Amino acid sequence: SDDQLADWITAAREALGPRVQILGHFYQRDEIVQYADFVGDSFMLAQAAKSSPEAEAFVFCGVHFMAETADILSGRDQAVILPNLAAGCSMADMATIDQVEACWRDLMAALGTTAEDGRRTVIPVTYMNSSAAIKAFCGRNGGIVCTSSNARAVLEWAFERGQRVVFFPDQHLGRNTAKAMGIDEAEMPLWRPHLPLGGNTEQQVRDARVILWNGFCSVHKRFTVAQIERARAEYPDVRVIVHPECPASVVEAADGAGSTEYIRREIEHAAPGSVIAVGTEINLVNRLQQQRPDLTIFCLDPVVCPCSTMYRIHPAYLAWTLEALLDGSTPNRISVPDGVADDSRVALERMLAAKP
Ligand code: 13P
Ligand code: SF4
Repeated sequence: SDDQLADWITAAREALGPRVQILGHFYQRDEIVQYADFVGDSFMLAQAAKSSPEAEAFVFCGVHFMAETADILSGRDQAVILPNLAAGCSMADMATIDQVEACWRDLMAALGTTAEDGRRTVIPVTYMNSSAAIKAFCGRNGGIVCTSSNARAVLEWAFERGQRVVFFPDQHLGRNTAKAMGIDEAEMPLWRPHLPLGGNTEQQVRDARVILWNGFCSVHKRFTVAQIERARAEYPDVRVIVHPECPASVVEAADGAGSTEYIRREIEHAAPGSVIAVGTEINLVNRLQQQRPDLTIFCLDPVVCPCSTMYRIHPAYLAWTLEALLDGSTPNRISVPDGVADDSRVALERMLAAKP
């Protein structure tokens, strides 16, 4: 039963003490968040894994790419455990390392490596929501990782070093960030990995400022301008805030866009009585609603929109993991191979230096 699970988790945590740290993403369900030692967005969780030398192990309540990142940034002897190995991210799965390498070969053939002004012709940038292999690819090729909280600072970093950027795998975060920097949509061709030159002409690739990989988040893709219009019709004073994984039309119709921590902070600091419509995952929206009962907070999507893979971290998996740790075993350990980890770390350290 739920009560029994709660007792097991509480007892195991007490027995393990501070040597095991539970890290949780904001999208985790409340039954998990209540046990987390640290809760944050992707950037904050990466920082936490890097700066907790006292922990022998991290139980990572989030999705696979986040646990890989924690493994890469934490110490060699610190184990990172993902309670349910089926907790992946469908967006991260939309770019495989083979596809990314094929794209790079095509780009190098079309553009060459170094431009006339001595900068690189293209800088690879990958969203945190990608495999360690793709982060390593970026590290090896003069590129960088970004999160939704520092995407703009990262693109600025990239444009200091190169003429253009290829952005994996979320087209929406790439487009929204580039548009906010004043880049024209005509200079952002979409790269469809199954087509020669991504389905573009050589001229389009030459004229590009940001080449966008054709990936997206199935949760954030559900938000629409019509939902925002309905919210504004019903509550003329509503403030609409969305995650930048939403389509550009939605971000433009909203009053603000940012990472899950940005959304949390906006609501924390909202004036009493305000009305806020949110375009992001439902577990976070519901929790923020509970934390500020004096506000009217609702999710833009009337049909609930959970991230089904984040939801796969069920308390039963947490209990099982903690009990295994008590027994001295480390189940579901995420271990990125050394070579991949070393190259990824290069791209991740560049990212950590680009503060949100
Ligand atoms: P944040 O970095 O904003 O927490 O986003 C992670 C994510 O997967 C959003 O869908
Ligand atoms: Fe991936 Fe979207 Fe879930 Fe975030 S909300 S983990 S991008 S599927």
